[in-house]
Amino acid sequence: MADKGKGGVQVGSTESDPSIYIEVLEGGPYVVHGAPPMAVQAITPNESGHSWSYTQGQAFEVKDGARLCRCGMSKTKPFCDGSHLRADVDLAETATMEPMLQQRDTTEMDGPDYSLTDNEKYCAYGRFCDNGDRFWNEVMEGGKAHDELAIYMAHHCPSGRLLVWDRDKREPVETAQAAELALIEDTALGISGPLQLRGGIRVHSASGESYEVRNRQTLCRCGQSSNKPFCDGTHASVKFKDGLGG
Ligand code: FES
Repeated sequence: MADKGKGGVQVGSTESDPSIYIEVLEGGPYVVHGAPPMAVQAITPNESGHSWSYTQGQAFEVKDGARLCRCGMSKTKPFCDGSHLRADVDLAETATMEPMLQQRDTTEMDGPDYSLTDNEKYCAYGRFCDNGDRFWNEVMEGGKAHDELAIYMAHHCPSGRLLVWDRDKREPVETAQAAELALIEDTALGISGPLQLRGGIRVHSASGESYEVRNRQTLCRCGQSSNKPFCDGTHASVKFKDGLGG
């Protein structure tokens, strides 16, 4: 299909100011570097009850070096209070360092106007891909309205698992965005979700390596993902609640 990843930044993505990044501590919290803005972002349904947009809620001041809970047990969420030291939660990183588009799990489909790639392993269960119309069908159908809806869905997918590709330019249809942290709330299900990184924020593993930079990524906050540090949607089945509201 296209060039797949270059220099640790996914093709089509734009890395944030490199002073802004997330560090994963072994068995511990996320450390935020560079003090990006952070706020609750509630997934807001449309009239038919499907995920459609985000509504900003409470904002938090994040100082350089702030520690964010990733075990799900802190009493001072979104910040760490040291509960991971007593929690029976395995916080070991299990995600591959391999760029998403090179992974075996990434699938490709060609529509008449655009192509798509998808890697379900990173699904954060935001459900923007299925609002009565399904993302994959929209790309395969083609035509202006279907194409525009598919691009809208991909850009709202919190985890970045979905990409729409310009077939002529051979790169994803993406635009650079300011770096910010979003504490996802799922109002339809009454649960909390991952920490979304917007705007190409780099994530450094506890191993010292860094994961590929992508425009949108979601990090697990419930402590239960099988693809740590990334969210895999398990927060929905464990009904994770951070107590911050939407
Ligand atoms: S926050 Fe989604 S799996 Fe933990």
